[in-house]
Amino acid sequence: MLLFFVSLCLCGEFLTWRLNFLDMVVLGIETSCDETSVAVLDGNRILSNIISSQVKIHEKYGGVVPELASRHHLDNIDWVLQQAVEKSGVATNQIEGIGVTYGPGLVGSLLVGVNLAKALAYSWNVPFVGINHLEAHLHSVFLDQPDAELPMICAIASGGHTSLYHLHSRDQYTLLGETRDDAIGEAFDKVGKLLGLGYPGGPVIDRLAAGQISHALGLSKPNFNEDTYDFSYSGLKTAILYHVTRTQIPPYDGSGTHSEEILEICRAFQTMAVEILMTPVRKAVQRLKPRSVSFSGGVACNSYLRKVGAEYSRRAGIPVYFPSMILSTDNAAMIASVAHHKLSQGIRDSMTLNAEPNLRY
Ligand code: KG4
Ligand code: ZN
Repeated sequence: MLLFFVSLCLCGEFLTWRLNFLDMVVLGIETSCDETSVAVLDGNRILSNIISSQVKIHEKYGGVVPELASRHHLDNIDWVLQQAVEKSGVATNQIEGIGVTYGPGLVGSLLVGVNLAKALAYSWNVPFVGINHLEAHLHSVFLDQPDAELPMICAIASGGHTSLYHLHSRDQYTLLGETRDDAIGEAFDKVGKLLGLGYPGGPVIDRLAAGQISHALGLSKPNFNEDTYDFSYSGLKTAILYHVTRTQIPPYDGSGTHSEEILEICRAFQTMAVEILMTPVRKAVQRLKPRSVSFSGGVACNSYLRKVGAEYSRRAGIPVYFPSMILSTDNAAMIASVAHHKLSQGIRDSMTLNAEPNLRY
């Protein structure tokens, strides 16, 4: 009996080792906006995920300047690639495939990543595949939670996108709704700029609002005539603009102390921004009865949204997932993860792959 048990354990160990051994080592490249990132994954295991942010370069312009972004990707990409390979501990001849973001995003920035992927695939003689940035955000949750229950209602909340999906399986999904104007992160950044809080405004508003709910400014949700899962943020942004103009609140002066008026706007704006995001999510959960919910994209870092998500999970009785902070904002690990999934199914691209700035998902 003991012998049988020991051999069963050894057999299990061997199988686990074989499975680990068989996992494909994939290199991911992400350059769609203002983060230059390269990652190496062994299956679902992140060996390295190097992210070089350009925030310092763009902050003086109050937003991303496309021309500067592509030039800085060019300057940074060699160093980021070298760091990612070194930190991963694998030799380049162990890398078996490459994934690269080919859209949506800024065309000049995307081209830096796409051309690097082609050059590496050619010289290492390995396959490569173009990855949709939104698909990668959607699947980033599976890096932390590989067993997350499906079907899932997934909200992407980032600087460029606000969309809601019904994920039936890893490869099958329905787009339920999307923003009709500004993305949620864009609204955070524009309100931040209006209040003199610098770029990007999202993390600063999060910190200043300190998780407090406020209905002080009488802000309201968008009113759609039809039954929809869509979002809208331009009305909220304009309401804040009118409030600031009417009350002549001076913007933050950089002194280190924020006026009570600015703090109140941060609390009221964030409360309503999260409420606008949650409304179609709740509606979709009630109607479609998924087994879980997830939030991804940069705004998924927001501490108040995470609190609201956790409370909703308790009340609705279903898991609500958020990727870790590093996997919520733009990163190459999520690109490598989707690439691993596709390359394992034999999906590949050819050297004719081009950047597609307006790619949809
Ligand atoms: O996903 P991401 O890194 O890039 C895009 O694909 O857009 O998202 C960046 C966005 C920015 O608008 C930024 O202000 C927002 O995510 N963001 C936040 C927070 N951290 C980042 N918004 C609210 N609260 C945060 N803590
Ligand atoms: Zn993104």
